[in-house]
Parts: sequence; C-alpha cells; structure tokens
Amino acid sequence: MTWTAIVLAAGRSTRFQSERPKVVHPLAGRPMIRHVLEALQTAGCSTPPVVVIGPSASEVREAAGPGARFATQPEPRGTGDAARWAEPILRGEVDHILITYGDLPLVRPETFRRLIEAHQARGATLTFLTAHRADPTGYGRVIRDPEGRALRIVEEAEADPEERRLPEINVGVYVIREPWLWPALARLQPSPAKGEIYLTDLVALAAAEGAQVETVALEDPDEALGINTRVQLAEAERIMRRRINTRWMLEGVTLLDPERVYIEAGVRIGPDTVIYPDTYLEGETRIGRRCRIGPNTILRDAVLGDDCIVEASVVEGAVLADRVHVGPFAHLRPGTRLAEEVHVGNFAEIKNSVVGPRTRMHHFGYLGDATVGADVNIGAGTVTCNYDGVRKHPTVIEDEAFIGSDTMLVAPVRVGRKAKTGAGSVVTRDVPPETLVYGVPARPRPSP
Ligand code: UD1
Ligand code: CA
Repeated sequence: MTWTAIVLAAGRSTRFQSERPKVVHPLAGRPMIRHVLEALQTAGCSTPPVVVIGPSASEVREAAGPGARFATQPEPRGTGDAARWAEPILRGEVDHILITYGDLPLVRPETFRRLIEAHQARGATLTFLTAHRADPTGYGRVIRDPEGRALRIVEEAEADPEERRLPEINVGVYVIREPWLWPALARLQPSPAKGEIYLTDLVALAAAEGAQVETVALEDPDEALGINTRVQLAEAERIMRRRINTRWMLEGVTLLDPERVYIEAGVRIGPDTVIYPDTYLEGETRIGRRCRIGPNTILRDAVLGDDCIVEASVVEGAVLADRVHVGPFAHLRPGTRLAEEVHVGNFAEIKNSVVGPRTRMHHFGYLGDATVGADVNIGAGTVTCNYDGVRKHPTVIEDEAFIGSDTMLVAPVRVGRKAKTGAGSVVTRDVPPETLVYGVPARPRPSP
C-alpha cells in the first residue's frame, strides 16, 4: 500500500495577526510547517508531500525546505478548495492520501502511522483523527449516530449550542482512498455560514453514500493543538519544550529545572551533561558528555567536546574541544576554535580565531582574526587591534608567548615563540621569538 500527504498552508492566518504566513513562524527553532513535514517523512510517506500554498508564498516554500512539492491555491476559499489544487500533481500516484494542516505541528509520526494502519486494516474509504479536549472551543465537533458511527463534522460557526457541548473534536488529519477523493472534493459545496468550502464535509459525503468512515482517537490530546493564534503558539512551544526536555533527560542529561531550559529541535547533547536554568541551546548545537552548561547561557550553532564548562556566556558558531572552560561573561563568536583545556574567562570576546591547547585568557580582552598557539598567557586587557577602519588584519601569537596586561596588538602582527610583551605595550611590529618588548610603540629591551 502506498500513501502520500497534502499539507494545507494557503490560509490567510487572520487570527495570527502577522504579515507573514503563520506556518513559517518558528516553533522550537524550526518553522512550524517543518515539524509537520518531518513527522510525515518519519511516518514513511511513499512520495514527497504536496504543500498547498497561497500565491506569492515564497517564504513558505523556503520554510518547507527540500523534499516537498507545492501546489498553489489562488484564493483562500476554504480547506476543501485548497485540497483540490493538489489533484493535478497527485492523481493516480498512490493508493491513499493523508490530508493535514500546516498549523498542526504537534502530531507525532507514530500517530500518522497509527491512523494509516487503522485505515488500511479496516478497509475504510475515509479515516480521520479525533481527540477529546477539555475545551473544544474553535475546533470542528464530531457528530455520531446512535451506533457510534461518525456521520459528519460540524464547524464551530455552524454548530448549535448542543453540538458545541460535544467534547470530541476533529483534529484535522484524514486518510482517504485516492480514487474516491478527487470526485468527492469536486462535489463539496460552500458552507452557508462562511461561504467557504470545508474539507470536513467529506465525512458527511462519505457517510451519506454508505462508504465506510472510521475514526482513530488520539492518546495524547496535546497533539491536537492547532495554531491559530500567538497564544496557541506559546502553548505549543511549552508542549514541545516539555517533549524535547523529557527526551534529553531520558537520554541521560540532567536539567536542573526543565521548565527553564530551552532546547531547539536540532540540538544534540551527550549523557551526564548538566544544564542549569535559563539556558538556550539553539540551531545545530552539539554538546559532548559530562559538560556543565549555564545558568544564563546561550549556545547557538556551537560545538562542544566532552567535559566543557560554559557559565553565563554566549557562544555562537564556535567549536570547543574537550575540557574547555568558558565564562562567566564571555562571548565567543563565529569562526572561533578553542583547543583542549583552553580557559576563556570574564568579559572576554573572541571572534574568528584559533586558540591552541591550554592557552589562558582569564580576564577581559578581545581576540579577533587571531591564531594563538599552545600554552599562551593572554593578560588582562589584551586587545587585537584587527580593524584599521577599512580592512581586518590577522594576529599570530606563537606557542608559550606571554602577553602582558593591557597589550595592544596592532595587526597585522606576529609575536614569536616564548616572546613576552610588557604591561601596557603597543605592539606595532613583529616580535622575534624569546624576546621581551615593552613601551609605546613596543621595542625590545636594549642589550646592556
Ligand atoms: C480546521 C477544521 C476543523 C478542525 C481544525 C483543527 C475545516 C473546515 N475545519 O479548522 O474542523 O477542528 O482545523 O485544527 O477544515 N487553509 C488553506 N486554504 C484555505 C483555508 C485554509 O490552505 O482556503 C489552510 C490554512 O493555512 C491552515 C489549514 O488550512 O493551515 C486549516 O485552516 P484553518 O483556518 O486554521 O482551519 P480551522 O478553523 O482551524
Ligand atoms: Ca487551524
């Protein structure tokens, strides 16, 4: 049996109050629609899903990423109309079509699978997902006959007070036999209340002609959350955070207060790492084993080896080897690579620089476009003056050099192996190995 999916994302997002389509807004660091597409892929769709987008929705195309196909709904005339626009791409391609919405990012891959398997096992024409929500407001309600068979879905706008009290809602995931789908979509009529063509009317259509309609109930009603407003987006963020954090705790990561650790979907963390509160792990961050991260730390696209410590610091696009200690109050910027046992201390900033093993920068200072060797001591207040107002210039500090406090290294410049600079030096010329320079501009000590 083969199947693929249609993901509807061409609506106006009126309730979301945004200039951008709501499905491109991030959830756990990824566009909302990406969560839907990834779950479908994990569930094992036979061919790439078709995303139905509005005209000029290049942002949605981009957010969906590779591996999706697109159809355009010229005007948002309702979910039933939206699904029709996928027909030219999908007709005859697979046995069954799953239709879902781009604003349902919490449905798990296992749930898609369970729905498809039930649909297939029961030989149904249409199978859809339902949930029991404590507050069903805003969702379509499932109307059943006395035998419990699903007869139709009634949208909130059309529901009478009694129907509104029904707790069983339509989640918005349907699996339909392909040959039945297209003519059925063509027969849908606009709703009297809103003038929109409702996809949900497929259920009444199928039931009326005696086709087999089945339902599958969600085990975790959180998965049913549809994101129509920013309030629901925040709710989804909270649910997603809990899922991600639970996963990492079960994989051996200690979170002191899981409510206050923000881990994006693409992050990886090694066991026995401990994460303190108010820490943000973002993008493609990778953390090794036994690290201690936080509190008050942001790691964005950072790569850390094992046994690292990062306290109250911001690390972006930097790579740290094992046993590196950063902070408190350091800022590592893109292109920074720190070798084993480097220590970057208080109020230090490093950008686009490579630092060798065991080098220490315990206090405030700035390294930019620098190559620093092993076992170097960078004194308090050291600055690489890498920018002359027009161009950036490199600084090289060789192994075991000692940079005295408040040294200005006016790039391009090289400090040789085991060389020393005196406190307050302004180094404008290369320093030969094993030489002490001092003063402004810095000169070697005259020989006696
Ligand atoms: C829909 C369902 C409702 C269900 C709920 C679950 C219908 C008629 N109603 O309501 O039964 O309980 O989802 O969250 O389907 N879209 C288009 N083109 C359009 C209109 C919408 O592509 O012309 C897309 C939207 O971008 C969105 C999705 O379809 O991603 C759902 O539309 P939305 O307006 O959010 O439907 P709900 O009112 O939430
Ligand atoms: Ca919705």
